[in-house]
Amino acid sequence: MNPTISPSILNCDIADLKGELHKIRNADFAHVDIMDNHFVPNLTWGLPVVEAVVAQDVVPVDCHLMIEDPDRWAPGYAEAGAQSVTFHAEAAAAPIRLANELHRLGAKAGLALKPTTDIADYVDVLGSFDMILVMTVEPGFGGQPFLDSQMAKVRRVRQAAQAQHLDLAIQVDGGVTQETITRAAEAGADVFVAGSAVYKAEDAYAQVEALRRIAASAMHAHA
Ligand code: DX5
Ligand code: ZN
Repeated sequence: MNPTISPSILNCDIADLKGELHKIRNADFAHVDIMDNHFVPNLTWGLPVVEAVVAQDVVPVDCHLMIEDPDRWAPGYAEAGAQSVTFHAEAAAAPIRLANELHRLGAKAGLALKPTTDIADYVDVLGSFDMILVMTVEPGFGGQPFLDSQMAKVRRVRQAAQAQHLDLAIQVDGGVTQETITRAAEAGADVFVAGSAVYKAEDAYAQVEALRRIAASAMHAHA
């Protein structure tokens, strides 16, 4: 299993979207954080920016919807060309129906859990999703410290997926750095979102490579 690196463009220079995406051309995805000022106390962008990132065609788009009523809005992100659409468990009225709808539209479906949301309620329905996003900060802002408390949840999801013979990706998002990525990989995560660590680095391209190398060695040591 190889690590998937998905830099968050939350703190990139949006006025130079093309240049900022070019910097991460060696990444597996661009992680686009959609915030609606209701589900989280912050507002970012919506469909037009996702469409612009898709149109640049540098890397596929991984959308993280921190919005209320994803049942209504998430399908539009799949239609806009996002390869992966992740919505929050706390916000979805019918998460399985929504995952099925995203699949019908040709996207992968991810289920995100805030730090205090228990995975227990979702263990029996993991098979409906391609990815579980274990938030390693309270969603809403970049640049927050990594919550080590979430590693137990990552382990529980990995164990449940293995017990059910599921090919399930586990994403961690928030506070991922060259230091914390090792612990996330050791716990069983294989998709790593990093915002500040990539876009605040002198050389974003080199940072993506470094994160990939560090995660790969931690994953292989635990394989
Ligand atoms: C937080 C967002 C993250 C954030 C990550 O709510 O979902 O994707 O941009 O940023 P860093 O890596 O700075 O924590
Ligand atoms: Zn995110």
